[in-house]
Amino acid sequence: MTLPDLPTLVDTRAELAAYLEAARGRGRVGFVPTMGALHEGHASLMRTARDRVGRGPVVVSIFVNPLQFGAGEDLDRYPRTLDADLEVCGREGVDVVFAPAVTEVYPSWPAQPQVTVAPGPLADVLEGRTRPGHFAGVLTVVAKLFGLVRPDVAVFGQKDYQQLALIRQMTADLCLGVEVVGAETCRDPDGLALSSRNRYLSADERASALALSRALCAAQGAAADGSEAARAAAVAVLAEASGVDLDYLAVTAPDLGDLAPGATGEARVLVAARVGTTRLIDNLPLTLGPSGSAPSGEDH
Ligand code: PAF
Repeated sequence: MTLPDLPTLVDTRAELAAYLEAARGRGRVGFVPTMGALHEGHASLMRTARDRVGRGPVVVSIFVNPLQFGAGEDLDRYPRTLDADLEVCGREGVDVVFAPAVTEVYPSWPAQPQVTVAPGPLADVLEGRTRPGHFAGVLTVVAKLFGLVRPDVAVFGQKDYQQLALIRQMTADLCLGVEVVGAETCRDPDGLALSSRNRYLSADERASALALSRALCAAQGAAADGSEAARAAAVAVLAEASGVDLDYLAVTAPDLGDLAPGATGEARVLVAARVGTTRLIDNLPLTLGPSGSAPSGEDH
């Protein structure tokens, strides 16, 4: 058996810049920002990046960004698995992995950086209501990483749907000149959306967590009867589930805005819940109204 080549690993801005200066000549630069603990979902983002840039360099960053974790969240126990992550990147033909220390990204750390990105009102709903400051942390690090990598294309998962919407908005509003691609959520065969946090779940908790994807599918099944019916169907599934502490279940417009009463057409159903000590999120597209049914793909 031949092992895949490991990608080049760099941990400083200077090394990354030197690597990319030489590599940019090969074509467009693809970028997959991650916090590590890589799984098949991340691997699929890397494949999407490779498809978009052909022979151009694909960069993966691995950085557990302290700025996006609130007090009492899982920053300290977030899984750090660099050796295994490098193997995933090697299998997917990633060219370079940027895995900086916190002070390489935030030189003043542990003092907060003075300039951060203000994400605007979209960051105050859904995830933002439970996790104040989270999206300011996400957008700040993504803006910094975009500045360091200067990618042509960056790929993010649709599982973090609100994050993806905010990154698209920041990229457009701040004229960052990066094509942002949203890749479909990868799931285990029983429907559980892949997440680095799934490794916190015990076997019983994992079984409970399946209620999230079942609820979203129930919403899809009821979407023909409108948004209220879709929401009620999902809530009914979650009410029956044991060990699931619901944070929110929302049916929104595709841009996460409110739906008008009786709205038809494209929409999104999003859920967040705590299972044991683990907070999980998931979402699916809906088509509301008489022709409503499960849309063929997740990608909208
Ligand atoms: O989705 C993630 O893994 C993180 O929020 C991101 C985009 C890498 C920023 O830290």
